[in-house]
Formats: sequence, C-alpha cells, structure tokens
Amino acid sequence: MDLLKQRIIEEGTVIGNDVVKVDMFLNHQIDVDLLCEIGKEFRKIFATSDINKIVTIEASGIGIACVAAQYFSVPVVFAKKGANRNVGDNIYKADVYSFTKGITTTIGISKDYIGPDDRILIIDDFMANGKAVHGLINIINQAGATLEGIGIVIEKGFQPGGDSLRSLGYRVESLAVIKAIDDGKVIFG
Ligand code: G4P
Repeated sequence: MDLLKQRIIEEGTVIGNDVVKVDMFLNHQIDVDLLCEIGKEFRKIFATSDINKIVTIEASGIGIACVAAQYFSVPVVFAKKGANRNVGDNIYKADVYSFTKGITTTIGISKDYIGPDDRILIIDDFMANGKAVHGLINIINQAGATLEGIGIVIEKGFQPGGDSLRSLGYRVESLAVIKAIDDGKVIFG
C-alpha cells in the first residue's frame, strides 16, 4: 500500500536496528483518514472471504480493527491482556511471549463473543515474531471458530512471524512489509 509506505518513510523513526516507531499516525496519535484507507484495503484484499467477525488484541489493534470493520459490516472482538488474573472460567486464554518486552502475557476472549459459527479475520498493527497472532489463533481454535485470514498493517519481514504463519498454511496479508532496516533507513520488500 503505497500511501502507507510513504507515511512510514516520511514520518517513521528507526530505533536501533529493528524497531520502527510510527507513533505519529498509528500507535499513539492516530490518523483516522489513513485508517479508513487501510480498512478499505483490507476489505479489497479479503473481498471474497466470508468474514463475520474481526478479532484483534488490545491496545493498538482496536482502533485499526474498528475502522476496518465498518467496511466489512461486522463486529470487532479484542483479546484482553492480563487474563491470568481471576476472570472466571467463561474465557478462552492463551499465553503470549513478547520478545520485545521479555515478558509473557495471558490474553483472553470471553466464550460469549467467539464460537464455532465465527469466520474470523485477525487484524493487528505490527507483525514481528508473530507470538500475538499465534495466541489469537490458539483462542480461535479453542472456540472451534474458523480463521479466514490475517491482516497486518506493518510486517517486519526480517523477523520470522509472517513467514512462519504462511508456512503453516495461514493466509497472511500485510499492507507494508519491511524487508530490512539499513543504516536507520527502512527498506520495503
Ligand atoms: P510479536 O507479537 O509479533 O511476537 O511481537 P513482539 O512480542 O515482539 O512485540 C511486542 C509489541 O511490540 C507488540 O505490541 C507489537 O505490535 C509491537 N512491535 C513489535 N515490533 C514493533 C516495531 O518495530 N514498531 C512498533 N511501533 N511496534 C512494534 P503490544 O505490546 O501488543 O503493544 P500495543 O498493541 O499495546 O501497543
């Protein structure tokens, strides 16, 4: 998606050799017009998929998923973090290890909001090692729901998440794939 790539190049900042900060339009301040274009693009890509629900994970995924959902006319369900606390039995849970943060978080979705009749599109902002998406897939499987595809705004192609999911047979569509970060510059695949 050229518009998105242009925004990453013009406004994104590189931290170290593997983190791209896009706080000015995606992760802190949110450019809603851009999110609308992102939502339309996901709709176009998954036009032939029979999707009845979008699933994401808090926090940054929520805004993106909600704007995209308008173009699919479906509800959004987001996995809550911290589901290891006393939240009862009516919840599907999965542990997600974050390489970036070095911690494991338990995520959860209520059994009231996901079930065998659901045909799901996962949407998230970043794909790095893919652990968050693997956690969501775990929950979708527990619920007996069907995963139609995975839509990612920015995939870091030099980290293994996207390709490991593709090699497992999942449909992963990323609007911008960063192939490398070279001397502080983002190179797209
Ligand atoms: P993984 O799920 O793909 O394995 O990613 P990882 O644990 O390494 O990433 C942890 C958090 O950092 C995730 O957000 C992920 O979206 C984000 N992240 C990873 N790489 C980058 C990057 O290069 N730039 C930015 N801006 N974010 C990155 P999170 O902890 O779930 O945070 P949030 O959704 O609450 O904001």
